[in-house]
Amino acid sequence: MNLTLKVWRQKNKKDSGRIATYQLTGISPDMSFLEMFDVLNEQLINEGQEPVAFDHDCREGICGMCSMYINGRPHGPKGAVTTCQLHMRSFNDGDTIVVEPWRAKAFPVIKDLVVDRSAFDRIQSAGGYISVNTGNAQDANSIPIPKDRADEAFEAAACIGCGACVAACKNASAMLFVSAKVSQLSLLPQGQPERKLRVERMVAQMDEEGFGSCTNTGACAAECPKEISLEHIARLNREYLGAKLTSERV
Ligand code: SF4
Ligand code: FES
Repeated sequence: MNLTLKVWRQKNKKDSGRIATYQLTGISPDMSFLEMFDVLNEQLINEGQEPVAFDHDCREGICGMCSMYINGRPHGPKGAVTTCQLHMRSFNDGDTIVVEPWRAKAFPVIKDLVVDRSAFDRIQSAGGYISVNTGNAQDANSIPIPKDRADEAFEAAACIGCGACVAACKNASAMLFVSAKVSQLSLLPQGQPERKLRVERMVAQMDEEGFGSCTNTGACAAECPKEISLEHIARLNREYLGAKLTSERV
């Protein structure tokens, strides 16, 4: 395949950035999108140019690092697929592909396609944990949990923290991410002791980080590579309201 790549290049946080155009030839349709970027970078290094900085780690849809905005969609044109699992056969020979970083005030660009997603870590640290002693696997298995609740918690736990929901949202809202993390724990018995405090703290941190508000457009769920459902946002709202109405915090 021969391709024209238009890639966002930005030296650092302060640089205003620009789109650079590159021609690639001989790309195999069986390459992953990141492997195609490896070829681009090898080409740039051989030409004495700076390679494109991009985030990646597991390359198998688990870590949530591969944050590329491809042809106007986070993680590219296919549903339920991360950038690392996207293959070049999803494109056509001769295509022009535009690649940009996630764009959100709370995710500042560090360099090229790499953004700072530490805001998510701070939200998680604010309350996305349990501090009770849960024992070992056999102890967890001895607590009966209704199948439908276990399934819902499992679905929420599939969130990989990639940030595509924020990038897709016109308000750069982090509600889908936060709702997945709150749901995962509030649905299980082990998450009950800190249930109210957790949702209050995580939402407060989300607001402090500068994410926008949710206006129920659903772009987040439509673009989420793990198909996290909007039902979790509804649960987050209920959890938050319940916590605030009974809060003993001043
Ligand atoms: S909710 Fe989906 S899009 Fe958002 S961080 Fe989690 S996996 Fe990524
Ligand atoms: S590199 Fe880990 S999810 Fe894509």
